[in-house]
Amino acid sequence: MPHDVIIACDFPSAEETFRFLDRFGPVRPFVKIGMELFYSEGPSIVRSLKERGHRIFLDLKLHDIPNTVKKAMRVLSSLDVDLCNVHAAGSVSMMEAAVEGLTRPDGSKPLLIAVTQLTSTDQETMERDLWIREPIRDVVLHYAANAKAAGLDGVVCSPLEAGLIHETCGIGFLTVTPGIRFAGGDAGDQKRVTTPSDAKRLGSDYIVVGRPVTAAEDPPAAYRKCLEEFLG
Ligand code: C5P
Repeated sequence: MPHDVIIACDFPSAEETFRFLDRFGPVRPFVKIGMELFYSEGPSIVRSLKERGHRIFLDLKLHDIPNTVKKAMRVLSSLDVDLCNVHAAGSVSMMEAAVEGLTRPDGSKPLLIAVTQLTSTDQETMERDLWIREPIRDVVLHYAANAKAAGLDGVVCSPLEAGLIHETCGIGFLTVTPGIRFAGGDAGDQKRVTTPSDAKRLGSDYIVVGRPVTAAEDPPAAYRKCLEEFLG
């Protein structure tokens, strides 16, 4: 099974991103590009980071009609991203279309994962705004099962849900988990946080780490600490 630490490069510009990554010298971490950086810099940020030798999780969370998602995914596939995502709420047929769009003529494709429920959505919000009345845990598991049925490779979830997702969808179904903090670190706006070593123990396949590395005084040292705890 692949296991790695993905650094969330939540920077507003390519310039700041490169300045940050230059601090790592010859080390080329797996990085996550989110909406802010992608919308400000466009596909060129993906091409530049690939040229520098980084693997890329492009976190755009697509959610639209199947045909539109298929065509958008074809573009992301030709950009050669390594990991990308959709909202499972878009339906099984939308996720199947995403897989189709991502699959290259030679049969290869980037890994594709689904967002089940956003971590900003709790039971109350789900019931009030989305009119979904089942327990959120069941909804997350149902959406994960839909993602698996559609041929996706895994889901974004909390490390606390990783075991349950593996039990339901199989050990090979990837769990990519944000909400990571070092013991005693500042949680910021994350509500339920897990250390890299706990994420490992709970069965996360990839951890996504932002501020504990990007805001650290010595980002390469913080990254090495994550790797040691998570892989070690
Ligand atoms: O700085 P921090 O470690 O909290 O960053 C976590 C990253 O993971 C951010 O880019 C955030 O948008 C993303 N994320 C998350 N929770 C989710 C999905 C994505 O924190 N459920």
